[in-house]
Amino acid sequence: MNTNQLKRIEQLKKEKNAIILVHNYQPPEIQDAADIIGDSLELAVKARSVTEDTIILCGVRFMAETAKVLNPEKTVILPAKDAGCPLADFLTPEMVREARIAHPDAAVVLYVNSDTAAKAEADIVCTSANAVEVVRSLKEKTVLFGPDSNLADYVASRVPDKKIIPLPEGGHCYVHEMFSCDDVIAAAEKGFTTICHPECPREVRKGADVVASTGGMVKMADLADSWMLLTEKGIGYRLEKLFPDKKFMIREDAICKDMKKITLDMLEHSLITGEYAVTLPAHLMKRARGPIERMMALQKE
Ligand code: 13P
Ligand code: SF4
Repeated sequence: MNTNQLKRIEQLKKEKNAIILVHNYQPPEIQDAADIIGDSLELAVKARSVTEDTIILCGVRFMAETAKVLNPEKTVILPAKDAGCPLADFLTPEMVREARIAHPDAAVVLYVNSDTAAKAEADIVCTSANAVEVVRSLKEKTVLFGPDSNLADYVASRVPDKKIIPLPEGGHCYVHEMFSCDDVIAAAEKGFTTICHPECPREVRKGADVVASTGGMVKMADLADSWMLLTEKGIGYRLEKLFPDKKFMIREDAICKDMKKITLDMLEHSLITGEYAVTLPAHLMKRARGPIERMMALQKE
């Protein structure tokens, strides 16, 4: 642990009136510098209530942009400006507009792992923590759901009275696609309880003991002594710190390259220079805010 650097970051944070929000998949040293660690929903909720002038979002672009849309008056910084999400890249705003024309009676639900311009075309946004609840809340019987077709399939299995159409067919996260039944079987043979992210393929979701967002994994960790985590490896560090008496197994190759782009040097640099502040056109933020706020309103109920 680089104690001196962490101390400098702590001091800079006070000087700049900044708060550091960190996603569960971030590298250990970035998690150690966090004020708040969480899943996409927890970070979005927290971003809305911070009192600091500056939010340093250590995650990927869609997370920083969501924080900016919810806080247009604040400075939101993504320390690695090219930290994207290949899953979000599956869906363009044009694709959403075309799908609406083809399915005029359908509601459009977009996973938060999408571009702000695509979100602006949606009726409501969801995260992996609340996707089922969001879809259940809709009056429409048909739902266009994107860009993750595995999450769409998971929602369809939990909300059988609605027709869920993946948008596009085949959108996926390459990290979660690497898991198979073999991972579930190997973990079960060792006596580990298996918990998988809903972005995993159907066969993995069906075989796992529990399906949960990364925040759900933290909340449920108490329910077993040893867990196989079928998701990005970064969550392992968080859980080991929180539950030192439990065993957590991860796949060392389950790495999201974009989630690993931020370093402590970049974090310190961002506090010193204000790079790289998220900027979005005001009209786009206004349009994307509605679907995000609709999701937030459901959280309060
Ligand atoms: P969570 O919201 O469950 O943390 O998921 C975010 C993500 O990017 C999963 O790959
Ligand atoms: Fe995107 Fe997958 Fe990385 Fe999550 S793990 S940020 S869905 S590429």
